Amino acid sequence: MTAPVAGTATHATAAPWYGRAAIVDHRLIADRTWRIRIDCPEIAAAARPGQFAMLRIPDRCDPLLARPLAVYDAVADENGPRHVDFVYVVHGKFTTVLATLRPGAEVVVWGPLGNGFDPPAVDHLVLVAGGIGQTALLALARERLGRARYGSPRRPVPAVRRVTFCWGAATAARFGDVEDFRRAGCDVHLATLDGSAGVRGTVVDLLESLFAGRGGESLHVACCGPEPMMAAVTRWAESVGAGCDVSLEAPMACGVGICFTCVARVRDAAGGWDYRRTCVEGPVFPGTAIEW
Ligand SMILES: Cc1cc2nc3c(=O)[nH]c(=O)nc-3n(C[C@H](O)[C@H](O)[C@H](O)COP(=O)(O)OP(=O)(O)OC[C@H]3O[C@@H](n4cnc5c(N)ncnc54)[C@H](O)[C@@H]3O)c2cc1C
Ligand code: FES
Repeated sequence: MTAPVAGTATHATAAPWYGRAAIVDHRLIADRTWRIRIDCPEIAAAARPGQFAMLRIPDRCDPLLARPLAVYDAVADENGPRHVDFVYVVHGKFTTVLATLRPGAEVVVWGPLGNGFDPPAVDHLVLVAGGIGQTALLALARERLGRARYGSPRRPVPAVRRVTFCWGAATAARFGDVEDFRRAGCDVHLATLDGSAGVRGTVVDLLESLFAGRGGESLHVACCGPEPMMAAVTRWAESVGAGCDVSLEAPMACGVGICFTCVARVRDAAGGWDYRRTCVEGPVFPGTAIEW
């Protein structure tokens, strides 16, 4: 029996749905960045913010393994939850093939998977994304601002007074569908390394300038992006007395706890650390629990 990880979300999760789902929309939204919508009422109904699904190209051996993608949003039609949106950047074998598929084609999918984000009671939620990390955060913003409800049964969440969304990328061409976050009600701030949009610098530079001297409200941070950035955001959150949850993007093979491809070194409540499977015990962990 392994010791619990302090602060880790512990939701009861129904068995993931597995099957083929038709692509109903697929479009380029930014540099090498696609938004794909699949017809999958089961995952649309059950997914909670921060959960993910495994996707595979059917009838192909290459790539053989599925890849994890965060559930960007669940979309309803007149009969209830129906479609699931994912946003991905073309990176390697899987995403290169996926980008060639057109509406009408199918993907093999299983999910929703993982723990997702807990909804702590705070005044102000700060969402921090690096690169393609925004995909784990939109549903959380919509849920916490009362724009949508997620999970089966729909989970109750304490409302927050405001949500600030800080997104850092190499260059402006990488920002796709940033309007989704404005429409959700977020206060949106951008940072780019080349200065082509928002503040020139990293997302941590942006956080430091936005929150310098601010106080008087309780803050909580939810973060997704490259590991060095999440480690830096965790340190920043500690410095301002805020809790910080991070969603790890570990490579995965099965997504359901069998293969141990996805382990991360996670501290436990007893002061030691152990390898944890990010697909079942994560992908969301308290940032302070990760052995960066
Ligand atoms: C829970 C979770 C949610 C994710 N959500 C999204 C999402 O919403 N959108 C998105 O674009 N991506 C997401 N990812 C990352 C995505 O699954 C990987 O980038 C995936 O490997 C892409 O497949 P590929 O075949 O195109 O690239 P691959 O051929 O698998 O990888 C190409 C190169 O990237 C390296 N690599 C593979 N996976 C990772 C990783 N996780 N981190 C760093 N380097 C890696 C490989 O070693 C290789 O060098 C998520 C990952 C996790 C674990
Ligand atoms: S991906 Fe197989 S155990 Fe996590």
